[in-house]
Amino acid sequence: MELKTLFSPEKIGSISIKNRIVRSATYESMADERGYVTDKLIKLYDGLARGGTGLIITGFSAVDEEGPVGPKTVGLYDDSFISGQKKLVDAVHDYPDVRISAQIAHCGRQILLPKFQPIAPSPIADKFINRIPRELSTDEIQGSIKSFVDASRRAYEGGYDMVQIHAAHGYLLSSFISPYSNKRSDEFGGDTQKRTKILVDIYNGIRDEIGKDFPVIIKMQSRDDVASGLSIEEATDIAKILADTGYDAIEPSGGIYEARLKTKNALPSKIIKSREDETYLLPNAGELKPKIGNCPLILVGGIRDPLSAEKILEGGIVDFVSMSRPLICEPELPTRWRNGDFSPVACISCNRCLFNIGIKPLKCYSRASKSQ
Ligand SMILES: Cc1cc2nc3c(=O)[nH]c(=O)nc-3n(C[C@H](O)[C@H](O)[C@H](O)COP(=O)(O)O)c2cc1C
Repeated sequence: MELKTLFSPEKIGSISIKNRIVRSATYESMADERGYVTDKLIKLYDGLARGGTGLIITGFSAVDEEGPVGPKTVGLYDDSFISGQKKLVDAVHDYPDVRISAQIAHCGRQILLPKFQPIAPSPIADKFINRIPRELSTDEIQGSIKSFVDASRRAYEGGYDMVQIHAAHGYLLSSFISPYSNKRSDEFGGDTQKRTKILVDIYNGIRDEIGKDFPVIIKMQSRDDVASGLSIEEATDIAKILADTGYDAIEPSGGIYEARLKTKNALPSKIIKSREDETYLLPNAGELKPKIGNCPLILVGGIRDPLSAEKILEGGIVDFVSMSRPLICEPELPTRWRNGDFSPVACISCNRCLFNIGIKPLKCYSRASKSQ
């Protein structure tokens, strides 16, 4: 069998991607203490670009000094970050046709670093981190929209091919679209349209600032997995609003920190024990597809086998497949598959990369122990 579709080009907005393989955003904990790009971080991205991924999405990059996901989060909240970012982007662009998107985010109500105040649309206690977030005023929400627009402009000036807005996993933007964490009664809360307004305003703000030709994609919460949280049914309506607004691609994901209180095997990075556990967000993508017209859909979550990825792409529900843990373990995976070694990924989804992130720099623990 040939992997014809997996290795065929496709566009996101005006940008052509050489194959359908995306590196899903993965926090690296490799910036310096202030969020500046380091040589170690550049080396990681050089390896991913060399490995054949068509579109690399960076890890969580903070739009606000007070909104990092953990220690050594990359910063994009000041113009002084641009020159370091440019070095990272240039290292990736040294490889022909490899594209790179910055992922921009604010941790919101799930901030783990004690020195920062959790913030949210509403002061609903987060039972995972045991803190009550401060409710944002309407003016502060406008400030937050501006911080996403400014960070996008910095990504553009740093040479990135596109930007991904992180509106998943319970972080700030995800908490706005969720009926669980957003109980506001101003224009940013209430029905689905109002809870999604922040994402529409961010998109329009970016377009006003940097024009039409810079794709803006989104990692979108498609289910919270907590009682009274965002459901897939409502997520389909949100996806329609985002596609109609003009977002250039949607990568649906799910889960918030509090969902981990119920099960160790929570979204977004579920443990894969058998073939049946793979591609666990495909049903969600299938729900969204009919609502989003021609907006490209990126499938993330448990992609482990190239033949199944090929089949899914041929089926036409999704346009790209996106991986995080497999590419931590094997950054050269796309080239391996392209060269005809179709064996599934070496990643055993032990999730030690995830449990250690923020404590230590990103690495694959199972591969490290095998090579010792
Ligand atoms: C170590 C680690 C860090 C992650 N960091 C991010 C992140 O910065 N932004 C994000 O949107 N998702 C992040 N994720 C989630 C992944 O992008 C992805 O959605 C999830 O792991 C499922 O894909 P996979 O089965 O290919 O790993 C992270 C996952 C892991 C394992």
